[in-house]
Amino acid sequence: MKIIVGNWKMNGNLGEKESMLSALQSIKTNHKVILCVPFPLIYGDGFGTNIGAQDVSNHENGAFTGDVSAQMLVDAGVKYVIVGHSERRLYHNETNEIVREKATIAIKHGITPIICIGETMEEKNAGHTISVIKQMLMESIPDNGEYIIAYEPRWAIGSGLTPTNNEIVTAVKTIFDTLPQPMPILYGGSINQSNAHDIASIPYIDGLLIGGASLKSETFIPIINSVD
Ligand code: 13P
Repeated sequence: MKIIVGNWKMNGNLGEKESMLSALQSIKTNHKVILCVPFPLIYGDGFGTNIGAQDVSNHENGAFTGDVSAQMLVDAGVKYVIVGHSERRLYHNETNEIVREKATIAIKHGITPIICIGETMEEKNAGHTISVIKQMLMESIPDNGEYIIAYEPRWAIGSGLTPTNNEIVTAVKTIFDTLPQPMPILYGGSINQSNAHDIASIPYIDGLLIGGASLKSETFIPIINSVD
């Protein structure tokens, strides 16, 4: 059983969510499928698919215009939330400290955070991938509770580029060895129908985090079906 997470980012609408859910319902899979949709699409029956969010506030409640609290996500039926996605880190200045607070508050409310980490191309080219990953990991993970780690090299997101299998195994083994206790580790970044099976089979990989290819059932379902 692998964990296969679709991240719709700021895409989709209610009709597209409904047709994705009915397409997912029509297949048989042993994998845990989680669909992380924009906030307004969260409500409603997931018909067997876990519906997740893409962010959560690091505050319980209060004067934080535009933010959504963990309790609100719980009320909407959410069990998983992505925190620290590189797009949040880049466009919303989220630091490791904020990511850690978000992960902690999610866990407190019974939501499993999917904590994203990954190096930039500049960091990779400078040979800093492993040190960057270790530091991001140690500063972003909460003290207690269960969480999922997603290794998403920033340069691999939406670029069509992926690390070599050796690079992925080195990175995820580092994550595995650095974590205080074993937690599932996902890979994300330019996953498609042709690379999903091989990447999901790499040692220490417990699943995939998929952006663009999760938007349409024609691309998402073949990926789910291709993973052992
Ligand atoms: P792509 O699969 O579109 O590269 O996006 C990956 C991602 O950012 C998932 O969170």
